[in-house]
Amino acid sequence: MEDDSTPALSPGQILQTGLGFWASKTLLSAVEMEVFTELARHPADLATLSGRLGLHPRGARDFLDALVALGFVRRDSSGQYGNTPETGAFLDKNKPGYVGGILEMANHRLYPFWGSLTAALRTGEQQNEARSGDDMFAKLYADPAKLKEFLRAMSGVSRGANLAIARQFPWADYRTFVDAGTAQGDLALQIALANPHLTGIGFDLPEVGPIFEDYIAGSGASDRVSFVGGSFFEDSLPPADVVLYGHILHDWNLEQKRHLLRKAWEALPTGGAVIVYDAIIDDNRSQNAFGLLMSLNMLVETEGGFDYTGADCREWMAEAGFREIRVEHLVGPDSMVVGIK
Ligand SMILES: C[S@@+](CC[C@H](N)C(=O)[O-])C[C@H]1O[C@@H](n2cnc3c(N)ncnc32)[C@H](O)[C@@H]1O
Repeated sequence: MEDDSTPALSPGQILQTGLGFWASKTLLSAVEMEVFTELARHPADLATLSGRLGLHPRGARDFLDALVALGFVRRDSSGQYGNTPETGAFLDKNKPGYVGGILEMANHRLYPFWGSLTAALRTGEQQNEARSGDDMFAKLYADPAKLKEFLRAMSGVSRGANLAIARQFPWADYRTFVDAGTAQGDLALQIALANPHLTGIGFDLPEVGPIFEDYIAGSGASDRVSFVGGSFFEDSLPPADVVLYGHILHDWNLEQKRHLLRKAWEALPTGGAVIVYDAIIDDNRSQNAFGLLMSLNMLVETEGGFDYTGADCREWMAEAGFREIRVEHLVGPDSMVVGIK
């Protein structure tokens, strides 16, 4: 006899997650082949689109219809494929809102590296182009194409949080800021665009300078945002009222995290603020799956990096001397931790 009071168990979620890479890789290949950029130029039928994208007939129809079923492409009653409002806005390379950089990097780098997750879990060693003991950034930046891809990827993944910080933080109380580890400079740019009274610096390794300057030029804030090259391990940060670390602390081990917070302290005046943001894990370490998976990504990608909870960051900030520490949600999985000197 079956027990009617027991809810029916289903393996659905197990199978969906276990085979989740099918959907993920389908989207990543679509971004790689610029399907959405092509559809933004012209919606098209199967034959035309296959010709334009160079698709072999065997997989073309299944590929495009899988994108329809996954919700990334529309097909109308005459068989014309086109973008959805979201893919048209965020995955057309010719639009300023393009966020596909992170997916391009996921396709080229993270997808193959995550194939070695079990090895990373067994050895504790990173599994990317830098092998244990190397600085991932030095290795990545030795290849100019990878450098550019990585920095663009950062703007895509960080845009939502950058806009939230630009709006949400009480910027009226401050005049200058430094975004440390700025990459292309999207956080610095969004803060400056939303707060015309502010002047800001993007600080990063010197190789990043030309890519930052290209991105900021003609943005409407190029007279208030500039680049300073240096290393936050070897050099002092430029002095400013607010120091920001966006997706920086999680790249480094505990001692380096503490060092970065001390560096911020040294660069700030009394009353100045440090803002740290990442996919901050909930204190119970059971809800923010993206933050926990990001931490595994740091295992695969870095020598000693890991993501952390709001409580962890509060403790490190307090050790560095900060007070009035608060954790504020930004968007999606991202939160910021703010401390006052
Ligand atoms: C994960 S990215 C974050 C980029 C950006 N803040 C964001 O949130 O999108 C890390 C950044 O730290 C920079 N970086 C790495 N090592 C550095 C160092 N020693 N000094 C300054 N910046 C560094 C990298 O070049 C890269 O731009």
